[in-house]
Amino acid sequence: MQMENHTDRTDLNLPAPLREPERQYYFIAKCRQWVQKFEAEHGRRPTACVFNMGCQMNARDSEKLRGILEAAGYALSDDEASDFVIYNTCTVRENANQKVYGHLGRISGLKKKNPQMMTALCGCMMQEPEEVEKIRKSYRFVNLVFGTHNIYKFAELLAAAQESDRMIIDVWKDTDQIVEDLPAERTYSFKSGVNIMFGCNNFCSYCIVPYVRGRERSRRPEDILAEIRALVKDGVREVMLLGQNVNSYGKNLEEPVTFAQLLQRVEQIGGLERIRFMTSHPKDLSDELIEVMKHSEKICRHLHLPLQSGSTAILKRMNRKYTKEQYLALADRLRAQMPDLSITTDIIVGFPGETEEDFRETLDVVRRVRFDSAFTFIYSKRSGTPAAVMEDQVPENIVKDRFNRLLALVQEISQEMAKRVEGQTLPVLVESVNEQDAALVTGRLNNNLLVHFPGGPELIGRIVNVHLTECRGFYYLGTADCGGRRQPDSP
Ligand code: SAH
Ligand code: SF4
Ligand code: F3S
Repeated sequence: MQMENHTDRTDLNLPAPLREPERQYYFIAKCRQWVQKFEAEHGRRPTACVFNMGCQMNARDSEKLRGILEAAGYALSDDEASDFVIYNTCTVRENANQKVYGHLGRISGLKKKNPQMMTALCGCMMQEPEEVEKIRKSYRFVNLVFGTHNIYKFAELLAAAQESDRMIIDVWKDTDQIVEDLPAERTYSFKSGVNIMFGCNNFCSYCIVPYVRGRERSRRPEDILAEIRALVKDGVREVMLLGQNVNSYGKNLEEPVTFAQLLQRVEQIGGLERIRFMTSHPKDLSDELIEVMKHSEKICRHLHLPLQSGSTAILKRMNRKYTKEQYLALADRLRAQMPDLSITTDIIVGFPGETEEDFRETLDVVRRVRFDSAFTFIYSKRSGTPAAVMEDQVPENIVKDRFNRLLALVQEISQEMAKRVEGQTLPVLVESVNEQDAALVTGRLNNNLLVHFPGGPELIGRIVNVHLTECRGFYYLGTADCGGRRQPDSP
């Protein structure tokens, strides 16, 4: 591998290079030296486990952390009782933070059994000074804390932590840097997330993300395309282009490029079969994008288009910059241009000041758009955001009642929508052996619905035509069109 050449050539007697990513390859080599010493002492490699606790962007960051750990010689594991455990945290809602403290409570027990165990915390929650302070004071066994902006420096921080018996904390407020060409260890061999931009400039009034992920920065199209080409060479058939608001991709580049133009260039990559992206902000979804999607052979027929609320008054207080009518008109345009498109969404219930009337507007949009599926959230107060200090926080019992009503409606509609393709034969990208029944494999339709059908592990990563025999609520049971044999697209 190219990366091993990098680290094998490193002379640790020389000072660390100042340029990135060379500097990080130097520290990977340094970590590797520590790992070899561990191996000599214990007769085994140290194990490392990365817990991903957030969104797709966090999941992709975790793959980068795993890539560096692997390059440093750690044996990767899923077990919390590893020699090195990293929690890649999320802080978008209160319960995400609570989960982290739950894990930390368990770690102190594990550390009694394995005193040399190391723990690191990173990700969005670490960008909040009060949380870091709490960890510094009350969880003194933690070895390393870093944030979202300096994740590319993980090897350097780990090298320091390996040599130190004190907690190392390095959290940056913001950055304008994007470091390319660091290793990543993918969870799936055949699909991968690809960051196209970082940060967010939208400041929706409930949301902590702009504060913990910083300002919007787009990667250069050449870097994105080069990464995807390399992924395809390595067996990837599906990419998910990632950004908090992909529709504003490219605006801050020296030579501006639109998201639709980027998609057209990704589409040209031979060997790539499917393109997904996430997330689309309704205010920035262009007709150019609809046109490109409509004519594309690779872009999946799935659009995640967060609504948040159906009430124009609440949308205004949320700082979403669209009205109920604009959202409905956009959904109509999408459905008219692509009748087989699956539209999914995020909805928040109980935003400050939400009245029964406002909530009914949300139900009305759900009925009219007929979402294929929706993630529904109870509003969670995030300190530091404008909504946290808004008056009229909605009482808990009212929010719960609305949440249940919304969920019932969303589920009823998604079941009806899922049935749309019953009886058809459609391509499925096989992802895994079925967890409950080893005689089945599980894959995804282009529109993101799950399908289970008889087949073996040799189908994983392949696209198989499957007859969708029976819709079971939110997923399908089916049979491979040619008895699970290789398809023409298989290598
Ligand atoms: N960038 C994406 C969303 C990122 S956060 C977008 O603009 O859609 C994912 C989802 O979490 C959001 O869509 C929103 O529905 C939900 N969310 C964010 N902050 C929240 C809060 N304070 N309380 C409840 N849900 C929240
Ligand atoms: Fe949060 Fe809004 Fe940015 Fe999405 S667009 S990350 S909801 S501020
Ligand atoms: Fe959570 Fe950070 Fe993603 S707060 S939702 S992990 S960007």
